[in-house]
Amino acid sequence: MKIKLHDKYFTPFVSAKEIDVALDKMAAKMADDLGDEIPVFIGVLNGSFMMVSDFVKKYPKPCEVSFVKLASYEGVESTEDIQHLIGLSEDVSGRTVVILEDIIDTGNTLESIYDIFGGKGTKDLRIATLFHKPEAYRKDLKIDYIGIEIPNKFIVGYGLDYNGLGRDLPEVYQIKNTQHMTNIVLFGKPGAGKGTQAEFLKTKYNLVHISTGDVFRFNMKNDTELGKLAKSFIHEGQLVPDSVTIDMLQAEVEKNTDANGFIFDGFPRTAAQAKALDVFLESKNMELSGTVALEANDEVLIERLLERGKVSGRADDQDETKIRNRFDEYNEKTAPLIDFYTTQEKFHSVNGIGSIADITGRLSAVIDLLNVKA
Ligand code: IMP
Ligand code: MG
Repeated sequence: MKIKLHDKYFTPFVSAKEIDVALDKMAAKMADDLGDEIPVFIGVLNGSFMMVSDFVKKYPKPCEVSFVKLASYEGVESTEDIQHLIGLSEDVSGRTVVILEDIIDTGNTLESIYDIFGGKGTKDLRIATLFHKPEAYRKDLKIDYIGIEIPNKFIVGYGLDYNGLGRDLPEVYQIKNTQHMTNIVLFGKPGAGKGTQAEFLKTKYNLVHISTGDVFRFNMKNDTELGKLAKSFIHEGQLVPDSVTIDMLQAEVEKNTDANGFIFDGFPRTAAQAKALDVFLESKNMELSGTVALEANDEVLIERLLERGKVSGRADDQDETKIRNRFDEYNEKTAPLIDFYTTQEKFHSVNGIGSIADITGRLSAVIDLLNVKA
């Protein structure tokens, strides 16, 4: 699950288990290298407190532990001005010293450490860091032990903070660079007004409306491969197979990478599709803000659809049997989605009977609430 610290979102990146394994390896390797030497481990505060605590427990031989303080970070950008070192009371001359860092990023901090410890007459000076960002590293200084190499993106947790928050987290999270999006699924039986409402909402919230039905109809009209494939199913009042729909949806989302968000209309229609949508959105660093069902009773809907059929000429809107068939499909397959999204606390319903403006108002109230909560 993503977390929010101050104004930014972060997603799980390195688990507590992976950290544990990395520290095990570092401790074993170091113990091997240092032989009978009793090292002085020096943690660089604040970030290293958690790593040092776990590391020294894993170190299989006697050792000393101390801490110093040095800071080079404000916000999420590394700053050049390294402060001086405070807190070293031990005499480290003639000793084997291992600096324990939580993370080495640009290497500015490391350079200061080398400068400062260079003058202290240590017998051996080594550097160990749990995390390292090779792409950000700008120095030529040796790092003796690296736990986990990570891309050049800001992380928090396990001692590391974002403006003071996140140090207490037992696992590591990576910053989410995608901006907040409003991604809505609009549910409703055929005729419930999804398309009409989506038109208003897309303008109001600057969203991209993806109606799977419209995309299919566009493709059918233009006789594309996708269109031919879809045609056979839609004309029978059947759902198009999931794999076809998901591929198409993916293409539509990828066409609109700058969008503020999406209104998914007509998708997902089954629990399997809902799961596939979650997986897909996750892969794009996106997620659903919420889902809204437009509720209206069947008799009202049939009346509306038959009217629409006369105007649009849509075959599936002109035949009451086909309409009822689509309602049955909806009840049977889409209704379980209510459970699915209720479990995620993402299900909302809105009365779909009334004036178009009233209904837009009701939907907007839900969306505004989702945006406030995000
Ligand atoms: P460097 O001097 O650029 O190598 O940065 C080292 C210091 O910057 C670390 O000790 C951290 O305090 C901080 N830092 C670097 N990268 C991150 C990060 O991704 N998250 C949190 N703090 C970081
Ligand atoms: Mg640090």
